[in-house]
Amino acid sequence: MKPRVINNLLCSFCLAFYCLCHADKFLKSGNHEWKKLIMVHHWPATVCKEIENDCTQPPDYWTIHGLWPDKAEDCNGSWHFNLDEIKDLLPDMKKYWPDVIHPNRSHFWKHEWEKHGTCAAELDTLNSEEKYFGTSLDLFKKLTLSGVLQKLGIKPSLNYYLISDIKDALTGIYGVVPKIQCLPPKQDEEVQTIAQIELCLTRELQLRNCSEPEELRPHGQGDLLAGVGPVLSVCEDGPAFYPPTPKEQAWMSKSRNYSVF
Ligand SMILES: *[C@@H]1O[C@H](CO)[C@@H](O)[C@H](O)[C@H]1NC(C)=O
Ligand SMILES: *[C@@H]1O[C@H](CO)[C@@H](O)[C@H](O)[C@H]1NC(C)=O
Ligand SMILES: *[C@@H]1O[C@H](CO)[C@@H](O)[C@H](O)[C@H]1NC(C)=O
Repeated sequence: MKPRVINNLLCSFCLAFYCLCHADKFLKSGNHEWKKLIMVHHWPATVCKEIENDCTQPPDYWTIHGLWPDKAEDCNGSWHFNLDEIKDLLPDMKKYWPDVIHPNRSHFWKHEWEKHGTCAAELDTLNSEEKYFGTSLDLFKKLTLSGVLQKLGIKPSLNYYLISDIKDALTGIYGVVPKIQCLPPKQDEEVQTIAQIELCLTRELQLRNCSEPEELRPHGQGDLLAGVGPVLSVCEDGPAFYPPTPKEQAWMSKSRNYSVF
C-alpha cells in the first residue's frame, strides 16, 4: 500500500510540476488570450507627484502611458527594442509619449514595448515596433482626451471634481465607459488624485467598455514608470483632485491671494 501512495504522490507532484513548467512556457510563449487593448493616458502632474520626483515642467496635457493588452505581459523576450525603428515617430513620441520623469530617455519606450508591445504584436495591425507605436499615437490623436476634457469644462483646478461626473461626461462623448485611476490620498491630503484615464478597445481597435458586464470590481493595474512608488487603483466614487501643473498651481494660488485683497 505504502509505496503506491508514495507513487501516487510522486505522480501528482510530477503532474503539478509538469503543469507548472507548461504554464510557464505558456506564459512566455505569447499564446495567451487577451480580449481588449487598454489605451492608458496619464496626467503628468500626478505622475510627478506619484514618484515624488521634482519635475520642473511636466506637460500640461494628457500623455500616453501605453497601449496594453489586458491579459498578457512580456510575450517575447527575444524581441528587443530598437530605437532606430521608430526614428520617424520621434517628434510625436517626445511630445505625446514622453517619459515624464526622465524627459530625455527612451527607456520608458523600451519598457512599454517589451512588456506590452510584444504581446500586442500578436495582431497584424501592431506586429512591429513602428506599427505598435505609430498606431498608439494615431489612436491617442483620434481620442483627443485633453481636448474632450477641456470642452467638457473639466480643467485642472484647486477645487475637487466628483469622479462620477467625469466618468459620465466621458461616457457621453465616447459612448463607452472609461476607467479612471487615482493615486490614493497621502496622510496630509483630503482626497484621491486623478492619475490615469483608460479607454478600451477591441482587437479590431474599436472603442468598447473597459469592464465586462460581469466585472463588478475591476482591479487596479499598477504599471508605474520605473516600477516604484505606490500602486494606483480605480478611483473611489466621490471627490478627486485634478491637479494643475506646479507652474499653474503657483499662478492660481497667487491670483487667489489677489482676489482676497
Ligand atoms: C519573437 O521575436 C523574434 C524577434 O523579432 C521573432 O523572430 C520571433 O518569431 C518571435 N516569436 C514569436 C513567438 O512571436
Ligand atoms: C536631451 O534633450 C536635448 C534637448 O531636447 C537634446 O538636445 C539632447 O540631444 C538630448 N539628449 C539625449 C541623450 O537624448
Ligand atoms: C457599456 O456599459 C454601459 C453602462 O454600464 C451599458 O449600458 C452598455 O450596455 C455597455 N455596452 C456594452 C457593449 O456592453
